[in-house]
Amino acid sequence: MESNDRLAIVIMAAGKGTRLKSQRPKVLHEVGGKSLLAHVIAAASRIVPPSQIFAVIGHQADRVRKAMEAMGVQFVEQTEQRGTGHAVQSAREAIAGYENILVLSGDAPLVQPETIAELWRFHQAEQAAMTLLSANFDIPTGYGRIFRKSPDQPDVVAIVEQKMLTPEQISIREINMGMYAFRTAPLLAHLGKLTTNNPHSELYLTDMAAVLNAAGERVVAVQAGDPAELLGANTIAELVALDATLRNATASRLMAQGVTIFKPETCLIDAGVEVGPDTVIEPFVHLRGKTKIGSDCIIRSYSVIEDCALGNDVLIRQSCVLSASTVADGARIGPFAHLRPGCEIGPDVHIGNFVETKKAKLARGVKAGHLTYLGDAEIGEDTNIGAGTITCNYDGVNKHTTRIGRDAFIGSDSTLVAPVIVGDGAYIGAGSCITKEVPADALAVARGRQVTKDGWAAARRASRKK
Ligand code: UD1
Ligand code: CA
Repeated sequence: MESNDRLAIVIMAAGKGTRLKSQRPKVLHEVGGKSLLAHVIAAASRIVPPSQIFAVIGHQADRVRKAMEAMGVQFVEQTEQRGTGHAVQSAREAIAGYENILVLSGDAPLVQPETIAELWRFHQAEQAAMTLLSANFDIPTGYGRIFRKSPDQPDVVAIVEQKMLTPEQISIREINMGMYAFRTAPLLAHLGKLTTNNPHSELYLTDMAAVLNAAGERVVAVQAGDPAELLGANTIAELVALDATLRNATASRLMAQGVTIFKPETCLIDAGVEVGPDTVIEPFVHLRGKTKIGSDCIIRSYSVIEDCALGNDVLIRQSCVLSASTVADGARIGPFAHLRPGCEIGPDVHIGNFVETKKAKLARGVKAGHLTYLGDAEIGEDTNIGAGTITCNYDGVNKHTTRIGRDAFIGSDSTLVAPVIVGDGAYIGAGSCITKEVPADALAVARGRQVTKDGWAAARRASRKK
């Protein structure tokens, strides 16, 4: 990135996206598990550091700023959206110190870093004032068209928007992908010459091609990347189609790496997910966020895993929900288990059906087979947690920790009122309500004693018949 320190990237993201019929700003709509703008920022961040990226925001600016805060980019406000040329005018001060800028659209999430890099490389090689990406489309309707000086030269005379085309120009198939490189000095010197002489009365950035030509500057076009990279979404249906495109690409990438995904069209796998070879993913699985799964795992249907790290040889049975937790090699989880954030599940642990865990650290070989809640708990190796065990971690005000040693046995239907400690090898009788520390290797039984009255039931039945 050293050579790019005089380069800034401007991402135009101020528009409203009227046709989405949504209260949410267009660039915050999500495809592939990430907002449109986050995709573009991620690609741009591969070219320059985030501190050199300027997002032009306008429509619901505060909301967009807040959503993107963590990505570390800078923001420029365009209070009134008067066109793409005006968007770049709004960034004048921000870009003045850079020798060159790249301009991207915040609503085109498929753009690849390699394509941006090629635009940048070509721009430098041609020493142009403006370089734009173009592509040949069979159906170019709706896009700006490229007018070259001659077919075999990169030099461009002008870009003409759809509505300004004369009938004979409509057949031009080379279109403007909407991504540009500019040398900042000529751009800023002539940016003020844009006019609103067009059907939308907007300032078109595309008109800079003609403006710079008139000023004797060089404008060139390069055909790079996949033309599909300009795809955006103007309607919800198009957004959903884009989402499918991205997820198909993710599933194909994983399958090429040796992951088996049955019925991938039914799975929701976010772009950043990593999965090791020989892992099998059954239909209707969701893998979200930064989830990482090792090799030889099986993820059964209807499980939803978000921001988790799973080791190798892990079995997730049907209908589990796992969030922000780690699961070590050989663990078996589910069906119907819920791992809430902050769990560390050790190797060969078994978590069975209807078990909920939260901030629970389970060491190697712990078994919690059925109907249990383990919250704010630390449990040592090979301890057995009986069915229906509950850690009472919340007193209505604060959360408290339950610590259980290794090789302990917690009888079914026990409640452990935290803060409480159960020592190594201790044994808790079924149905106990444990409120005090249980020393290592002790037995604790904390329940009412059984009362048995011989013949009582028979006598009752007899008295009722009278
Ligand atoms: C633009 C190009 C067109 C090209 C197409 C490729 C212009 C005039 N036309 O059209 O030649 O073929 O991209 O997809 O540039 N924005 C702002 N502020 C504004 C207006 C827009 O930030 O005042 C942002 C939008 O939020 C969007 C981006 O700029 O992210 C592009 O604007 P949009 O209106 O979608 O341009 P297109 O119609 O796609
Ligand atoms: Ca667009």
